[in-house]
Amino acid sequence: MTAKLPYVLILFYSRHGATRAMAEHLAAGVESCPGIDARLRSVPPVSTTCEAVDPEIPEEGAIYASLDDLRHCAGLAIGSPTRFGNMAAPLKHFIDGTAELWMGGALIDKPATAFTSTSSLHGGQETTLISMLLPLLHHGMVYAGLPYSEVELMETSTGGTPYGTSHLAGKRSDRPLDEHERRLIFAQGKRLARLTLALAASRSKGS
Ligand SMILES: Cc1cc2nc3c(=O)[nH]c(=O)nc-3n(C[C@H](O)[C@H](O)[C@H](O)COP(=O)(O)O)c2cc1C
Repeated sequence: MTAKLPYVLILFYSRHGATRAMAEHLAAGVESCPGIDARLRSVPPVSTTCEAVDPEIPEEGAIYASLDDLRHCAGLAIGSPTRFGNMAAPLKHFIDGTAELWMGGALIDKPATAFTSTSSLHGGQETTLISMLLPLLHHGMVYAGLPYSEVELMETSTGGTPYGTSHLAGKRSDRPLDEHERRLIFAQGKRLARLTLALAASRSKGS
């Protein structure tokens, strides 16, 4: 029997597919690192109509995350479209349901990172990334952005920040990831995988 590999949970919400494309590239970066898996999970939309109930399994794309997906991850990447300079409500709704994990300290000392997609270049990429960082710090996670050794950070004229990769998706959210954005999100996944393995080893030694 082969032992189960540790995994990075890639938890995201995407309405039009731009954030989903980022999640998939980040997963490729994670899986370029031997000894670790990427687990892609989405969250359901929320509705102002209280009676609206979504099917348990989405019609397409990544299945919805459970609390156990989050509890047992060794590292976490969260992604959201920018909504008024902030993370989208469905992702916030999921995070607001994680008090049980917070009380049990399930995410303490695990690394985390964030990514976002926007319509406009100055429409709140950094603020959205920081909005996702805040609850992760409450959970005791260790936040990892992107270092400037990733040369695309200096070269990009679209997405990409030291707080995490961003993507300029355009007015209709249909602009594909460009070369700089693709390289950055891949590098972000790879770095998270490396840090995840290192921190998991250090936790198991109790050091
Ligand atoms: C309610 C709402 C608020 C939004 N707020 C912003 C915003 O503050 N800044 C911005 O640049 N884009 C904003 N957008 C656009 C989305 O962030 C953008 O289309 C994103 O690429 C969608 O990602 P997705 O394809 O993963 O759904 C908003 C979209 C909606 C529906």
